[in-house]
Amino acid sequence: MNILVSGGAGYIGSHACKALAQAGFTPVTFDNLSTGWRDAVQFGPFIQGDLTDAEAIGRAFETYEPKAILHFAALSRVDEAMRNPGLYWRNNVLGSLNLIEAAVEHGCLDIVFSSTCATYGDQDNVILDETTQQQPLNAYGASKQAVEQMLRDFGATHGVRHVVFRYFNVAGADPEAQVGEFHRPETHLVPIVLDAVAGVRDGVTIYGTDYPTEDGTCIRDYVHVSDLVDAHLLGLRWLLEGKGSRAFNLGTGSGFSVRDVIDAARRVTNMDVPTTLGDRRPGDAIKLVSGSNRAEHELNWKPCKSTMPQMIEDAWRWHQVADYRE
Ligand code: UFG
Repeated sequence: MNILVSGGAGYIGSHACKALAQAGFTPVTFDNLSTGWRDAVQFGPFIQGDLTDAEAIGRAFETYEPKAILHFAALSRVDEAMRNPGLYWRNNVLGSLNLIEAAVEHGCLDIVFSSTCATYGDQDNVILDETTQQQPLNAYGASKQAVEQMLRDFGATHGVRHVVFRYFNVAGADPEAQVGEFHRPETHLVPIVLDAVAGVRDGVTIYGTDYPTEDGTCIRDYVHVSDLVDAHLLGLRWLLEGKGSRAFNLGTGSGFSVRDVIDAARRVTNMDVPTTLGDRRPGDAIKLVSGSNRAEHELNWKPCKSTMPQMIEDAWRWHQVADYRE
C-alpha cells in the first residue's frame, strides 16, 4: 500500500519512511529538498516537488495512487517565522491547501498531519491538553493551527479524515543511525549541544537565563523521534480502520530545562560542553510540557525511548556518522 509522505526527506519524515517500510507500506516521498536531504530518502520512491506546485502534487497522486498521506512538509523555525511570517503562511498554509485539495480530488481521504505544541502559545499554569485553547505566539504556530482548521473544514464538507499530532520537542535519532537530525543551519538545542561536544562549534549559547523557572532557562518536553513515528503508524492504522478524526499531543509530560539537557549531554558523552549565557530568543515560550495522556490511552502509544539519556545517546551515535551531502 502506497503512503504519500510529504517532507519524507526531512528529519522526522525520513524516520517515518523507515518505520512505514518496516511495517510493510511503501512510503512515497514528496519533498522540495529545501530543508531535507536526498540521501535521507532510502525506503521508497522519491518525487522532488513543492507543495505550492498543485500540478506536481496531482501528478504524484496519479502516478502512485496513495491510500493515505503523512503530511510532514513544513517550515518549522520560530526565529525564521518571526522574521518572515509571509513565508510561513505561503509555504505551510498554501502548500497544505494544495495537498488537501489534490487528496480530495483523488479520493485519498485519510491524512495524518504534523502540528505542534506551538499552537498553544505560552500559557502560564495551564495544563496543555488537546482541549486547551490554541493561541499561537508566532506565524509558525499560527500556520499549523490554520491547517488544523482547514482539515476540519474539509472533513465536514468532503469527508477528509485526519489525525492531528501536536508535537512537543522531538530529539534523538534512529537507533541504527541510518537517518537522523541534520539541519543547515542548525537551530535545535540537542544537535547544537552535540556540535559543541564534537568541537564543531565553540560552545552553546543559552538563550535566556532569567525566565521564571527553577534554573532560569526554558523548559521543554522532549520526545524520541522513534516514539514519535510509532505514534504516526498508530494514527495511520486508526484512520485506515475507519475511526474518526482526532487530535493528539505527542509529549511525555516531563519537562527539561536547557541546562538539564546540557548536563545530560555532559553525562552521556563524558565530555565538556562550553556554555555562554545569552539573551532570550524572540518567540520562545517559557514552558511547553504536555498535560495529556490521550495518545497513550486511545492509540495505545508507548513512548518507551523518550528518556533524556536515550535521546542523547542515539543522537550522539548518529552525530558521529552523519554524512548527508551538503
Ligand atoms: N536553545 C538555546 N540555545 C540554542 C538553541 C536552543 O538555549 O542554541 C533553547 C531555546 O531557547 C529553547 C530550547 O533550547 O528554550 C529548545 O530550543 P529548540 O530550538 O531546540 O526547540 P524549540 O522549543 O524552539 O522548537 C521546538 C520545535 C519547533 C516548535 C517549537 C514550539 O523545533 O518546531 O518547539 O515552541 F515550534
